[in-house]
Amino acid sequence: MGTIIDGKAIAAGIKEQVKADVAAHKAAGGATPGLTVVLCGDDPASQVYVTNKVKTCAELGMKSELKQLPPSTTQAQLMALVAELNADPTVHGILVQLPLYKHLQDGPVLLAINPDKDVDGFHPINVGRLWTDQDGLFPCTPVGSLELIKGTGVDLKGKHAVVVGRSNIVGKPMAALLLKQHCTVTIAHSRTVDLPAVCKSADILVAAVGKTKMLGASHVKPGAIVIDVGINRDANNKLCGDVDFEAVKDIAGFITPVPGGVGPMTIALLMRNTLAAAKRQARKSK
Ligand SMILES: NC(=O)c1ccc[n+]([C@@H]2O[C@H](COP(=O)([O-])OP(=O)(O)OC[C@H]3O[C@@H](n4cnc5c(N)ncnc54)[C@H](OP(=O)(O)O)[C@@H]3O)[C@@H](O)[C@H]2O)c1
Repeated sequence: MGTIIDGKAIAAGIKEQVKADVAAHKAAGGATPGLTVVLCGDDPASQVYVTNKVKTCAELGMKSELKQLPPSTTQAQLMALVAELNADPTVHGILVQLPLYKHLQDGPVLLAINPDKDVDGFHPINVGRLWTDQDGLFPCTPVGSLELIKGTGVDLKGKHAVVVGRSNIVGKPMAALLLKQHCTVTIAHSRTVDLPAVCKSADILVAAVGKTKMLGASHVKPGAIVIDVGINRDANNKLCGDVDFEAVKDIAGFITPVPGGVGPMTIALLMRNTLAAAKRQARKSK
């Protein structure tokens, strides 16, 4: 059986490191890093996510605030709040939880966030920084997935990485990050011809599709690193990924479970981004 990658343990290690770095930053006279999470939508999962984000900040010695807006919020009111948070020097990170209420557009809101406070890493300035190898804030889930891949200890240079999914928040940034590690990267998507053959050529396979157990034994090369980003529910309403874990675990060299793989990494990397944003703003204000 392949090694099961323990995302929970690796995420806990990253959070411990962030906690120590926050303490050192404050001891050196730095401002307490502050994250403001804006909840302006009614997706039931969002409430759980934002509560966890705010709680974890406090656990690591950072300041956090939840701005919960009612369904009557207009686009102009939401934009005004973002402008206010951009101007507030005690707010180092701004996260607008998606999805928004149906009558609101997320594009203009994400574009309005100061890129140096964009802890989600979704602003086109940060996307550009990622693809041009500059320092910036990069999306938490793919960065967390890369940490899991690096944690295997496998030398990534020259390895063939296949990323299934080309979303702006997971697939594309994941590909950029793997390219930066000198992998040869293929991005597969819904129009890819012969997906099993493409996936089976991967030394590193990242699944970011959102389809229950879509990748099985015929998609995995023996010994491959398999990272499952998907969060789905099976017929019994049980959480599961895009990879059929039972079918693949004896073929893969390393594999992430769902839950307990990529999921816990996302919040840990959000914490790291919030501290990085605070440090970046401190440097720029000097
Ligand atoms: N663990 C975490 O913290 C975390 C964070 C974010 C997302 N997620 C999960 O990750 C999954 C992906 O999220 P996302 O936001 O990237 O989803 P998304 O925006 O819906 O993108 C899904 C991608 O999968 C591709 N796809 C769909 N059907 C396919 C098929 N049959 N064969 C090959 N590719 C196919 C789509 O291709 P086209 O572009 O051609 O349509 C698209 O690029 C979801 O389950 C989501 O819940 C987890």
